[in-house]
Amino acid sequence: MATAEQLKTLIKSHFSEESERFFTIALQVAAHEAHQGHGALAHDIRSILDKARSEKSTKVLKFPAELHGLVLSEKPDTPKAALIMPGSLQTRIERIIHEFRQMHKLKSHGLTHRRKIMLIGPPGTGKTMTARVLAHELSLSLNTVQVDKLVTKFMGETSAKLRQIFDLIQLNPGVYLFDEFDAIGGERSMDNDVGEMRRVLNSFLQFIEQDKSDSLIVAATNSPKLLDRALYRRFDDVLYYKIPDTDGRKRLIQNVLGTFMPTKLTWKDIVSASESLSHAEIDQSCKDAVKQAILEDLKQVQPALLKQMLKERREAGLKE
Ligand SMILES: Nc1ncnc2c1ncn2[C@@H]1O[C@H](COP(=O)(O)OP(=O)(O)OP(=O)(O)O)[C@@H](O)[C@H]1O
Ligand SMILES: [Mg+2]
Repeated sequence: MATAEQLKTLIKSHFSEESERFFTIALQVAAHEAHQGHGALAHDIRSILDKARSEKSTKVLKFPAELHGLVLSEKPDTPKAALIMPGSLQTRIERIIHEFRQMHKLKSHGLTHRRKIMLIGPPGTGKTMTARVLAHELSLSLNTVQVDKLVTKFMGETSAKLRQIFDLIQLNPGVYLFDEFDAIGGERSMDNDVGEMRRVLNSFLQFIEQDKSDSLIVAATNSPKLLDRALYRRFDDVLYYKIPDTDGRKRLIQNVLGTFMPTKLTWKDIVSASESLSHAEIDQSCKDAVKQAILEDLKQVQPALLKQMLKERREAGLKE
């Protein structure tokens, strides 16, 4: 028989929904039984646990067929250190990670961790990347909901699809990114088909309000003006992204160039050549310069070339 202590811990971990702890104790019980010479019982316990575990892990990847192409699932490996942002934003991201990791502690005091996050900002400033970093840091899958497809392709069925997505959010803890969120979040009065969009938006608001899952819901958009005020209240955090300042540009360039960073560089030139570019554009210019260095068998990027690449990006941006 399992020890009294094991039984008590097993029951406690069940009620506090600490499934990992429950598994560990149950395995200890199996080991204890084997030690006592109860081999058959130990074997039975282990096979129950193995079966439960494999069902749990396959469930994470199993989407209803209707959602194929609407939700893309991946396991990102983007480290937090790669994300360049102002200290204040970084602190708020750290807080999301910290509260998520301590959700059981907060729950035991009747509090919930922040888990509904809205990211707003211009293209290429790290919104999608942030969702990847969150998933990586929390060892969760990143499930990207293709909001534009959800709305345009299945206009009449959008609310039904949303319900299925929120069921998935409840069943499979993960990071759920509603990218291009403005497709549903658009100001109600601005839509051509006002009735339909209002229904979609209302059901989204209801779902997000009712959601009590352990998942992290991230919505990202470029256009704050398009967003409905009622939406803001439903989020625990609204984070504003901006193109990088001088310090951000320097840190980003150093990060991306890595060992290809030139030893002699006039920062003043590079800083002004990269002004008004987004993180994504600077990242791309640096990678172009590194490629060139590799093809020319150089160990470092040539400063003049980097400046040229940045200039090209800026000119391309001005033409758009
Ligand atoms: N803050 C950042 N720090 C470091 N790299 C960044 C940052 N933002 C963007 N990048 C680089 O640019 C790429 C594209 O960025 P990302 O997809 O996150 O932009 P976004 O804000 O989601 O843009 P969009 O609004 O167009 O979806 C990233 O994969 C990364 O390489
Ligand atoms: Mg994005």
